[in-house]
This record gives sequence, structure tokens and C-alpha cells, in this order.
Amino acid sequence: MKTASDVSLTPNDIFRLLESDLQKIEVGLKKSAKSAFPLVNDINKYLHNSGGKRFRPIFLLLSSKLCGFEGEPAIALGVVVELIHVATLVHDDIIDNADVRRGRPSVNAKWGNQVSVLAGDWLYMTSFSLALKLRNFRVLDLLIGITRKMVEGELMQLEKHGRTNISIGEQLEISQRKTADLFSACSGLGAILGNADAEKEEKLRSYGRSIGMAFQLIDDLLDYTSNEDTLGKPVLKDLEEGKTTLPIIYLMQRAKPEEQNFVREVVRTRNFTLENKREIIQLVCSYGALNDLKNLAEQYAVQAKRTLLGFTDSIYREALLKLTEFVVRRDK
Ligand code: IPE
Ligand code: IPE
Ligand code: MG
Ligand code: MG
Repeated sequence: MKTASDVSLTPNDIFRLLESDLQKIEVGLKKSAKSAFPLVNDINKYLHNSGGKRFRPIFLLLSSKLCGFEGEPAIALGVVVELIHVATLVHDDIIDNADVRRGRPSVNAKWGNQVSVLAGDWLYMTSFSLALKLRNFRVLDLLIGITRKMVEGELMQLEKHGRTNISIGEQLEISQRKTADLFSACSGLGAILGNADAEKEEKLRSYGRSIGMAFQLIDDLLDYTSNEDTLGKPVLKDLEEGKTTLPIIYLMQRAKPEEQNFVREVVRTRNFTLENKREIIQLVCSYGALNDLKNLAEQYAVQAKRTLLGFTDSIYREALLKLTEFVVRRDK
């Protein structure tokens, strides 16, 4: 099997490969964000100018090109998946009480929770009305299905809020629902646009699911290892937000009873002093939890690469292979 490291594409090469489509998606995002209602306009302009990596449209475009599709519907769906993603971010920041997103005050920090709930709703509905224009029930079915799963993922996370004894399986299910399913939809939409056969479509959906898992696991890792300037959002926040991601799950499985008690007490009493956070990071590191998390993300990336085996070699396949590496190595 050709591995991603045999491929010499850089992130810039991939960007150049998609540049004209991505530019059209930016135009589409700007256009679709217009509303006759000035407050909605202001929020959308603010969100659009805040950037973002545009990973979801990138996976959609590459998958559709891999299946031989070029054309306007791929641009339209690129806009749709990015709008769904942005809607989830707006709602997620309300739920997580997060003040910073993409290096600036979050929508909830700027406009408050009430306005932000409605802004998120507006974005969801706008993305579905754009998708509706394609008059393709399979596309709608897929998008509605994964959006419902994403909401369920956030609900599952809330149900487990502040619990330090959740299992690896439960945490992986949350990651799949809240993040990986949208990635899977993006690559699956590419297959649908390209009229790929059922086997290829399933392979691409599986590629997206695995890469999405790796993506969320690295997001969880970066919360422990990165900094706000690089990441554009605050770090060391997950535990404070009640999210027991894998670093803590591994730690609780491996630590001595008194260390487990310490973590449980910090979470229970919400005593997140700098000193306590430092102590927890030290424990997380000393039990190898971050290494194991990275290894797991790498395993998902390898799984993603494997799903591309059945596709004939092309620049798009190479880009999808290479992206598995970038997702795991990313620092933002
Ligand atoms: C953040 O997604 C939410 C997660 C699923 C971890 P991104 O890291 O893709 O966010 P932007 O769009 O680049 O800001
Ligand atoms: C990402 O969850 C899930 C979404 C679907 C928005 P997080 O809560 O980890 O995302 P960040 O870290 O706030 O971007
Ligand atoms: Mg969040
Ligand atoms: Mg996160």
C-alpha cells in the first residue's frame, strides 16, 4: 500500500489544488449569510470573517473529485457542510460557556446566549434550505441524519457532564456523534455526487468517520498540549467544562486511589486552580495518557488510509492520504 509518507504533497499543494473551488465556497458562504435582518447579518459577517480551517469542505471536494465529479453542486454542498459546522460551533460555545473561538470573542461572549441560540438555528436552517435546492433526497437524508446524531452527541456529553468514571467506549461514541459523523457525511456526499457504487460510497464514508475520529481525538489532545494563541481557543478547558476526554479516562484507569480521589475532588468541587490543573496535567503525562491518545488518533488515521485502497491512484487520492497525516500532526 502506498503510505501517506510516500506522497510528497504539502498542505499548500492541497490548498492550491482546491483553490478555485474554495474561493467559490467563500463567495457562497458570504452570500448565504445575508439576511434582511441586520442583527443576523452582523453575526454572520463576524463569523465569516473569523476564518476557520474549512476542513469539511476540503474533504467533500476531494472525495467528489476522487469520484470524478466536478461542478456547482459540490460548491453548494461545501457551503452547506461549513454552515452546519459553524452552527454547531455557535451552539457548542453556549453549552461549553466558551468565550473565545477562532482567536476572537465567541458569538455568545459578544451577543449573549439568547441571541446565539437563535443565530445557530438560523445557520442550520439556511444550510438545509441551500441543500434543499439540489432536490436530492439522499443528500438531505444524510445531512439530517448526521445533524440529529451531532445533537445527540452533545446531549450524551451533557449527560456525562463532570463524571470521571466514563468508559473509553462512551467517550468514543460521543466523538463519533459530535464530530466524526459530519466528516463521514462530507466524504459520503462526495461519493453521492460522483455516483460512486455502494461499496465505494461506504469506503469513503468510513474514511471520513475514521479521519473525523482522529480529528476529534487530536482536538482533545491539543486541549492539554497547545496554547490559546496557536489554537485560537482557550486550552485546559475540557475538564473544567465537565468533559472527561481520554487523557482523564486513561489517567483514572491507571492512577493510584489517592490520585484518582484528588482528580474526582477537583472536578466535584470545581476547584480548578492553576496549581490543581498543573498537578492534573503532570499526572496525565506521567501515566502516558497523552502518548496513548496520540497513538489512538494515529490508528484511526491508518484505518482511514486503508479505506482508500480500492480507489485508483490520482492526485485526489494522494491528497486524501496525505490529509490523514496532517490531521494527526496538526497544531491548530
Ligand atoms: C472545531 O472544529 C470543533 C471540533 C470538531 C473539534 P475545527 O477545528 O475544524 O474548527 P474551525 O472551523 O477550524 O474553527
Ligand atoms: C466539538 O466539541 C464538537 C462540535 C461539534 C462543535 P468541542 O467542545 O471539543 O469543540 P471545541 O473544542 O469547543 O472546538
Ligand atoms: Mg466546545
Ligand atoms: Mg475541544
